[in-house]
Amino acid sequence: MTAPEQLRAYLAEQENKSLLRFLTCGSVDDGKSTLIGRLLYDSKLLFEDHLAALEKDSKKHGTTGGDIDFALLVDGLEAEREQGITIDVAYRFFATDKRKFIVADTPGHEQYTRNMATGASNSDLAIVLIDARKGVLTQTRRHSYIASLLGIRHVVLAVNKIDLVDFSETVFNDIVAEYREFAAPLGFTTLTPIPISARFGDNVIAPSASTPWYKGPALLTHLETVDVDTARAHKPFRMPVQWVNRPNLDFRGFAGTIVGGRVRAGDPIVVAKSGRTSTVKRIVTFDGDLQEASAGDAVTITLADEVDISRGDLLAHTAERPEVTDQFTAHLLWMAEEEMLPGRQYLLKVGTATVPATVSTLKHRVDVNTLDHLAAKTLHLNEVGYANISSSQPIAFDPYAENRETGGFILIDRFTNATVAAGMIDFGLRRATNVHWQALDVNKQVRAEAKGQKAAVLWFTGLSGSGKSTVANLVEQRLFAMGRHTYLLDGDNVRHGLNRDLGFTDADRVENIRRVGEASKLFVDAGLIVLVSFISPFRSERRMARELLEPGEFLEVFVDTPIEECMARDPKGLYIKAKAGQIKNFTGIDSPYEPPEAAEITLKTVGTKPEDLADQIVETLKARGIIP
Ligand code: ADX
Repeated sequence: MTAPEQLRAYLAEQENKSLLRFLTCGSVDDGKSTLIGRLLYDSKLLFEDHLAALEKDSKKHGTTGGDIDFALLVDGLEAEREQGITIDVAYRFFATDKRKFIVADTPGHEQYTRNMATGASNSDLAIVLIDARKGVLTQTRRHSYIASLLGIRHVVLAVNKIDLVDFSETVFNDIVAEYREFAAPLGFTTLTPIPISARFGDNVIAPSASTPWYKGPALLTHLETVDVDTARAHKPFRMPVQWVNRPNLDFRGFAGTIVGGRVRAGDPIVVAKSGRTSTVKRIVTFDGDLQEASAGDAVTITLADEVDISRGDLLAHTAERPEVTDQFTAHLLWMAEEEMLPGRQYLLKVGTATVPATVSTLKHRVDVNTLDHLAAKTLHLNEVGYANISSSQPIAFDPYAENRETGGFILIDRFTNATVAAGMIDFGLRRATNVHWQALDVNKQVRAEAKGQKAAVLWFTGLSGSGKSTVANLVEQRLFAMGRHTYLLDGDNVRHGLNRDLGFTDADRVENIRRVGEASKLFVDAGLIVLVSFISPFRSERRMARELLEPGEFLEVFVDTPIEECMARDPKGLYIKAKAGQIKNFTGIDSPYEPPEAAEITLKTVGTKPEDLADQIVETLKARGIIP
């Protein structure tokens, strides 16, 4: 047999074994790599993934004519890097006579929590490694908590380096007792303490003669036999639609991977969000039609009826439907250097659906050491919190505890596209679902027409002292004189009333602009031309305000005045104070300003009279048909 044939034969043999997905966690030098190395090499196990990758590479590079080029093995890691894998989790496959295993190997010291969380979300069991000399550490607690949060129910407490404490039963028992007390509230289904020495192999593959007092199984034996009930097939049927497959007019299939339960031809199913129902006609795969498919299978489903379904929809059995709502509570693990900003719009990705969403209220932060709930306004890197989330459209989901795939989500920064948080949905909030939009007969169009104008927002953004209010004020005077209907929202004024509870931290500014965005939307609905004059330093929130309105209604006016000029003008004497350190978080001094990238109107205030700038805006309004 050639090497690829051997590999295929080997893989076929593995098909029928059960699979255990696990990860190892603990502090950096607790012996993680040594342990994984021991498990893999000592038991003469095969790196399935490496062989598979090797087979592929050999074909690609073609140096050995289809056979495996073992020289490539050493470069395995290099290849991973070339592929630009962004989250540092390598999955190692191995197998014994009894079981197949996938180990999530999460290297890297920096952002370790993030890698660990990614690995945990794909695992059924965690090996929590402890250095017997050090006992339970903060990192032990942190990782155990995160593992439990990410749905891991089975833990092996591997008390490693037991040789360095003379194989002491007392040391072992003390550590186990301390850990049990900490972990009790985490509700693990099994917690199996094992004294090991990864370095010398004690109790890793076989029982050790050095720990006669230990009567439990060796680590590998435990991994081979522990019942983790990974049977996702027993859960309600769920399939997020990845894409709609429409090769010709006669075929319309919905492709995706089943993430819960099973489905049979003839089953009644529902599109979770729209509530449309139909029955499964065929379950199509590359190898022909199936009568039944279950969790883990990638299939294309065709239906008996023409139903409107697109990417992001979740298919479910009609008798077991997921929840659908736009408000829910969730645990969040914050993964970005930048702090979390309540009120900021992020993209929320759940299953194959992506929708804009905000953290509306942070209820508390969790101290990972004590599991205490602490009051908090924001989350920083690696912190865990519990929050209300509000999405701009309803999403279909299951609580994370019931289905990790349909209940887990990530939050993405809209400008950098970076993943900033992992989320685990707890439950949906009913409060908003009973409030429906009231269709009003006297609407925006009618109100604006009666005023002889189109409703719009002129959103003035720029540094303090740039001239926003001056120009906005002149524009309003001119429009008023022309008999137009306007309203001016000015930062300094609104901060005395509606927003008097807000200061100048990033989080407060986000909330300031969110409220003003919503308020201007109401004024637009009243048919008015709204002038908004706020520093509004962040692109994200200006974009959010824009997206609250219809295309063409939002005109961003960048009042582009260099900071030196603003400082020289200093109309309120604030720059002087800010530079003297008497005012904190002052825009342009110690708080950022992100200039617009594509403002509809840019005003260069240096060398032009405010009156001329105001005229320029009035002309733009005419040209755009907002005023006659
Ligand atoms: S925004 O950043 O949240 O949009 P907003 O426009 O409401 O700011 O308020 C800015 C006004 O508040 C400034 O024109 C200035 O008069 C005053 N102010 C007081 N403290 C600050 C500060 N730290 N940064 C900026 N403006 C401040």
